[in-house]
Amino acid sequence: MLNKILYLFLFLIFTHPHNAGSASSDVDLIEQNWPFNGIFGRFDKASLQRGFKVYSEVCAACHGIRHISYRDLGDIGYSADEIKAIAGEYEVIDGPNDEGDMFTRDAKMSDKFVEPYENEKIARLANNGVYPPDLSLIVKARAGGADYIYSLLNGYKDFPENFEASEGMYYNEYYPGKQIAMPSPIMDEIVEFDDGTEATHLQIARDVTSFLAWTAEPELEVRKSLGVKTLFFLILLTIMLLGVKRKVWKNLD
Ligand code: HEC
Repeated sequence: MLNKILYLFLFLIFTHPHNAGSASSDVDLIEQNWPFNGIFGRFDKASLQRGFKVYSEVCAACHGIRHISYRDLGDIGYSADEIKAIAGEYEVIDGPNDEGDMFTRDAKMSDKFVEPYENEKIARLANNGVYPPDLSLIVKARAGGADYIYSLLNGYKDFPENFEASEGMYYNEYYPGKQIAMPSPIMDEIVEFDDGTEATHLQIARDVTSFLAWTAEPELEVRKSLGVKTLFFLILLTIMLLGVKRKVWKNLD
């Protein structure tokens, strides 16, 4: 009996579908082997740092990441000095000061990522009436997760003939309804990676998607390693209980 429970338990854990469900488009997503998937999932820090560069040089022109502070970049391998320098490139409005006035100052490590637009109205005006969503949790908020974001970034094509395209929209196979207000944000060499990695379209899409998987769940590694420890503990406990059971029932079988 215990054996059966153990097998069922292991079966459920190892076959638990990741990112169940698919995006609401009829095209199959491009599936990637992400290092952060699966029970032993880990982030690739070099990829996250490249992804942060893509976010800050490209996506941050339109999208905020309001759940992450500059300080959190320590988790992906930046030193305190590097983070201070990164934050120092941005300005935030703070206050009121003793005179009751608001003032502008350089961002600090403890500030959240600075938003690209002053408010939603201005953001919409700049983007064909559509609000570029905050990207902090987008990987969790979309069916298909990281595979969906990666597919979306690689899903731009010309409008097919006879497609009723709306003004200022772009064709994307993976977006529900197939037309999106975001122009294709990446192309080869749009950023230069500090570690010498070649900045191809696919590499950029992969790295920025990994970065967004991290912003959606910075504590993923802690959660997974706790899960693995718990699993091993339970297996050990089960084996010990089986041993005890055998011993107790030895003379009665
Ligand atoms: C010029 C502004 C602009 C830039 C730059 C930009 N985006 Fe967007 N993005 C938008 C707008 C506008 C939308 C909303 C599109 C819509 O709903 O039609 C959007 C939507 C999205 C979505 C949500 C799609 C969905 O399923 O709702 C994701 C994910 C996204 N962008 C990722 C990125 C990434 C990653 C980058 C950088 C590589 C980036 N964007 C750069 C304007 C931009």
